[in-house]
Amino acid sequence: MTDRAPPGRMLQRLVAGPTLVSHALWFDRLESTNAEAARRAAAGADEGLLVLTDEQTAGRGRLGRTWHAPPGSSLMGSLLLRPGLPIAALPQLPLLIGLALAEACEPLVSGTQVSLKWPNDLLVDGRKCAGILVESARPDAMIVGIGLNVDWRAVDRPDDLVAATSLSEVGRGPIDRWRLLIALIDRLDQRYRAWCETPGDFLPAYRERCATLGSVVRVDRVESPPVIGTAERITDAGALIVATGDAMLELHAGEVHHLRAA
Ligand code: BTN
Repeated sequence: MTDRAPPGRMLQRLVAGPTLVSHALWFDRLESTNAEAARRAAAGADEGLLVLTDEQTAGRGRLGRTWHAPPGSSLMGSLLLRPGLPIAALPQLPLLIGLALAEACEPLVSGTQVSLKWPNDLLVDGRKCAGILVESARPDAMIVGIGLNVDWRAVDRPDDLVAATSLSEVGRGPIDRWRLLIALIDRLDQRYRAWCETPGDFLPAYRERCATLGSVVRVDRVESPPVIGTAERITDAGALIVATGDAMLELHAGEVHHLRAA
């Protein structure tokens, strides 16, 4: 594993040249990078603020869950975006980020299948390797939080994480977190700029990579009963259409379990 904190030149490189990142902040430990970025967004921070940490004391996951990652094991950060697109396009953003993350990680685990579980869990060889939490923050800001398991080989995993994996377990040896961060920012930059120009254009590439499509799934929902059926389609707004036998349901949130692969 690389050093716990990024070398200073790495943070400088992140903000140098034409890049999405306008300002990068490192914290050895933080409650949650999303919470910190949201606080700064509310205080007027510019688009492109990147908040990074090695350890979170109250990391947030999707659907009200918590996110755990031992120090030194992961890349964890939040990027403040102010897309200025119509509200109708914003539900696409979590999918776009998932696609960029998959594209950035793929070269490190070549020969291994890198796919997405709707909406944006990164799967490597079918196991979760990263999670993304996109939250809106006032005024007109989106906070994109990414937790990527880089090297969990020495990690004692709690029961709920035994099924997860990390890039080093499936890649070819140690991975430099900071080089990976640069590659990820590059990819996010390209995808995000293209999205701001022509919002729907990335959807075919997303669908191509989405392992949920065509699979038999159970979708757990926070305040409604689970749905079991076949994942038929992803709409242009990013919703998942599930055929249950007697209905076609349009789902906007939920935890997907692949029961039978496509
Ligand atoms: C999920 O539930 O799959 C999404 C997890 C997102 C975790 C990341 S870690 C960095 C950022 N800060 C947070 O508090 N959460 C996100």
